[in-house]
Amino acid sequence: MEILPIAALTLMANCSISAIALIIVKNTKPVKIFEIHKLRIFVVNYCINFKCQNRQNSDLAKQCQTCGTNLLINHRYRLLKPLRSLTLGHPTEIFEAEDWGTGEQEWGTRKVIKVLKFPNNTNLLQLFKQEARVLIWLRNPAIPRVAPDGYFSILFDDNSQQFPCLAMEKILGENLALWLEKNQHISQEIAINWLQQLTEILCNIHSYQIIHRDIKPSNIILQPNGKLALIDFGSVKIENSENIPVGSLGYAAPEQIAGKAVPQSDFFALGRTLVHLLTGQSPLDFPINQGKNQIIWYNSSINIEKSLANLLNKMMNSQPEKRPKNTRSISKSLNNIKIR
Ligand SMILES: Nc1ncnc2c1ncn2[C@@H]1O[C@H](COP(=O)(O)OP(=O)(O)O)[C@@H](O)[C@H]1O
Ligand SMILES: [Mg+2]
Repeated sequence: MEILPIAALTLMANCSISAIALIIVKNTKPVKIFEIHKLRIFVVNYCINFKCQNRQNSDLAKQCQTCGTNLLINHRYRLLKPLRSLTLGHPTEIFEAEDWGTGEQEWGTRKVIKVLKFPNNTNLLQLFKQEARVLIWLRNPAIPRVAPDGYFSILFDDNSQQFPCLAMEKILGENLALWLEKNQHISQEIAINWLQQLTEILCNIHSYQIIHRDIKPSNIILQPNGKLALIDFGSVKIENSENIPVGSLGYAAPEQIAGKAVPQSDFFALGRTLVHLLTGQSPLDFPINQGKNQIIWYNSSINIEKSLANLLNKMMNSQPEKRPKNTRSISKSLNNIKIR
């Protein structure tokens, strides 16, 4: 008779885990199943009320033990963990969540929930609504999906104010900023492949007159299947919306910082992102060629084809009219790069 140490682990809906051992008589069917012990994995239930003094609750709690706010957001989402620090001065909070409002096949699906903390700020509210609209609208496997009911408002227990929330598909994998910390940099073969993938995503969004305006490593996720996804549409510009200065230092094009973003502004940020990925160095750490207003990142000692460096330099030109005209032009240049 042989006992398998842990023959099966079953994850139950209430998030406890049972370890089950099968007693197997060699060459026969399993004759008995018994439970060795129950290991309870404590999953924290976060309170969505950012004014609450103690937001972590046990996974069994229905209401926050400190402020009384309902822990099942919009009657379906349970907040599991923050995806970035809750103490920083961000206008939004972002959580990984479980969705219990789906059909039973999908109960407990992981989602990402964003909450806008300052809905009275009209610029922030406009950007937040635009992010929701664009994600509901776009249908691209490389962009998080939001169902039409994924944008909603919630009321904290003090009934003071409505806070807009956005529930989106959780993309599996790791963002490229975290990925870079472990992997230092990418090869030029990978750079070409990733640039092609990101150009295709941009081709799709630009065709709807949408400009992302915040392309950078932390807004790109490398999925387990090797495909990239573009996230964080929180700075997006849609047709006819007001052009305000947004973006991230080191990646945002000069005209975008001046509040005049054009589709080619995304090419600038994409070029800077690729330089960061190829060299492992943040664009802010390179010296600037004052005459051309370009970062000096490439020299002959770097093992990168001149044609790839030329394409990236063209994308990062300080004047948008000197960058590639459209995504087709970038793809064409990429197809002509021969790696020796
Ligand atoms: N839909 C998503 N799927 C998976 N991870 C996400 C998703 N949205 C955000 N994240 C994670 O949360 C981080 C912060 O989200 P993001 O929308 O970029 O906000 P911000 O840039 O304001 O911090 C991302 O870098 C990513 O790691
Ligand atoms: Mg981001």
